[in-house]
Amino acid sequence: MSDPVSRPRGFSTRAIHHAYDPYAGPGALNPPVYLSATYTFPTVEDGAARFAGEQAGYVYSRVGNPTTDLLEQRIASLEGGEAALVTASGMGAITSLLWTLLQPGDEIIADKTLYGCTFGFLNHGLARFGVRVTHVDMTDPAQLAQAIGPRTRVVYFETPANPNMRLVDIAAIAAVARRHDARVVADNTYCTPYLQRPLELGADFVVHSATKYLGGHGDLVAGAVVGPKAALDEVRFAGLKDMTGAVMSAQDAFLVLRGLKTLALRMHRHSENAQGIAERLAAHDKVAVVHYPGLADCPQRDLARRQMKLPGGMLAFELRGGIEAGRRFMNALGLVTRAVSLGDAETLAQHPASMTHSFYTPEERRAHMISEGLVRLSAGLEDLDDLLDDVDQALAAA
Ligand SMILES: Cc1ncc(COP(=O)(O)O)c(C=O)c1O
Repeated sequence: MSDPVSRPRGFSTRAIHHAYDPYAGPGALNPPVYLSATYTFPTVEDGAARFAGEQAGYVYSRVGNPTTDLLEQRIASLEGGEAALVTASGMGAITSLLWTLLQPGDEIIADKTLYGCTFGFLNHGLARFGVRVTHVDMTDPAQLAQAIGPRTRVVYFETPANPNMRLVDIAAIAAVARRHDARVVADNTYCTPYLQRPLELGADFVVHSATKYLGGHGDLVAGAVVGPKAALDEVRFAGLKDMTGAVMSAQDAFLVLRGLKTLALRMHRHSENAQGIAERLAAHDKVAVVHYPGLADCPQRDLARRQMKLPGGMLAFELRGGIEAGRRFMNALGLVTRAVSLGDAETLAQHPASMTHSFYTPEERRAHMISEGLVRLSAGLEDLDDLLDDVDQALAAA
């Protein structure tokens, strides 16, 4: 379909329309789901040319599928990247990328706080294969400048970090990494491209657990990597095709495409609800600390304003009564649901030390700033008053 308007399209318009022509073929408003593992070659010569990369066309769904292709184009457009690669999970995205970028003898420097399985992959996976794994506190870019060296190939962080909401200044970290020719990988799961676009701030790659806000409905597990096309071709043909095989199904790609249509709307509501819950918690005398970038006394409020469009849907807090009070609070919740994951329509509460971050030993959690009493909340899309009623009664019981 030719576009009669030349002005660049806005975020939601691209999330709904980018790279699909509803007038093509049978005129279906929604893109077809291509449930095919393999593709036909008109002749043996065509097949050979496709394998050699000399002819456009599909070969086999572990390296490409028209439905996952469309999702890749949309995610790349939303993140402002040249290309994207979608995967079977967020861990599939992270492992496919890092297995491709790193060799034995290289170093990866990561922030202190990482999602538990990412921490596990770095310290128990990559480290076993001769990659040096170093952690520094990336809220202070000077610590990266001090640690980075000639072996450092990758600098890796989440912002906000899961689960303690520490923010990393993407532009400052990217400036240090660039001086040392290291690639910067930012996990943008908590923000989505609607709230934060790390590539525009100097990161080389963005990774996502699309299981979360991008899918948005808690009904699939998926991931994505965004970055330069040549580098992502390598990830596709080495890390994804041969090393992890963590390929997204066409059905899941369709569901993520559906989720993306409402991403901007949902992020506003998630953020409003998180702000309301954070303020209610912060005002309560049983609450020791609330970590949320939308609170006026958040120590990283200026950075949040600079690099995030909204403070987002995630928060973490601790009760004065520590882990026992946190347990009573969580068990008393009625509407807010006890479950890991995040970014769903339902507000979810979990205890990182015994759940998502139980891969860290207690000593590692201490060293990596994940306190035992921390409770993590993913604000959903329900009516805020109902959520606040539930939080109030659970605090009374804590
Ligand atoms: C920040 C972050 N990155 C990556 C992942 C891994 O994603 P997945 O569960 O889709 O493999 C998660 C999962 O919770 C996460 O929270």
